[in-house]
Amino acid sequence: MSVPAVRRRTAILVSGRGSNMTALLEAAADPAYPAEISVVIANKPGAPALEKAAAAGVATATVDHRGHGGRQRFEELLDEELRSRDVELVVLAGFMRILTPWFVERWNDRLINIHPALLPSFKGLDTHARALAEGCKLHGATVHFVRPEMDAGPIIAQGAIAVRDDDTEETLAARVLGVEHALYPRALALVASGELRVEGMRVLRTSGTAADPAPLLVPGD
Ligand code: GAR
Repeated sequence: MSVPAVRRRTAILVSGRGSNMTALLEAAADPAYPAEISVVIANKPGAPALEKAAAAGVATATVDHRGHGGRQRFEELLDEELRSRDVELVVLAGFMRILTPWFVERWNDRLINIHPALLPSFKGLDTHARALAEGCKLHGATVHFVRPEMDAGPIIAQGAIAVRDDDTEETLAARVLGVEHALYPRALALVASGELRVEGMRVLRTSGTAADPAPLLVPGD
């Protein structure tokens, strides 16, 4: 990659351990990557991801979701934090709060999420157990633009793995997490470089290159 003229100022929102955040920070450490991570924000004080981000030299902030008497004030504070840092893109990486339509619409097409399933299957929680219980042969992860409905929104990229006969919820979760770590930096690069346009529920490439329009990863399985 050549050095981009503009690197999009990006915030990562986390709630927990932040392994996807780490994958994104590693990708963005390359000056040729089209997004720079301006800040990592947690909704939980002491979230382990914050320490990892600080160790990587990235600014951190906490906007506690508790103690505001409702979602609206929390989201206003979050929005103020993002705008005070001139953030252009917001990336949810294991951010376990449902955002209201007010926030989602303010960040329309600039807010992305990763979900550990091949959407639109298995929205919500316990995706790996449910994929096993349903006998799926393919499972994976999805990066999508956020819309008010949970785990819905135009799909930017998906990565898939084969489900093995001896898979457990834990083994499946571990392989899907590996897919997530490869997929999320690629998806954010596509968004940040302005190579995409959204038409209804479809995300299409603006440039008519011969590259895969929707990257599908099947890592060595
Ligand atoms: C990831 O598997 C992510 O896909 C999932 O939480 C995990 C966070 O892990 N997100 C959701 O389920 C959102 N609906 P991480 O903190 O190590 O990145």
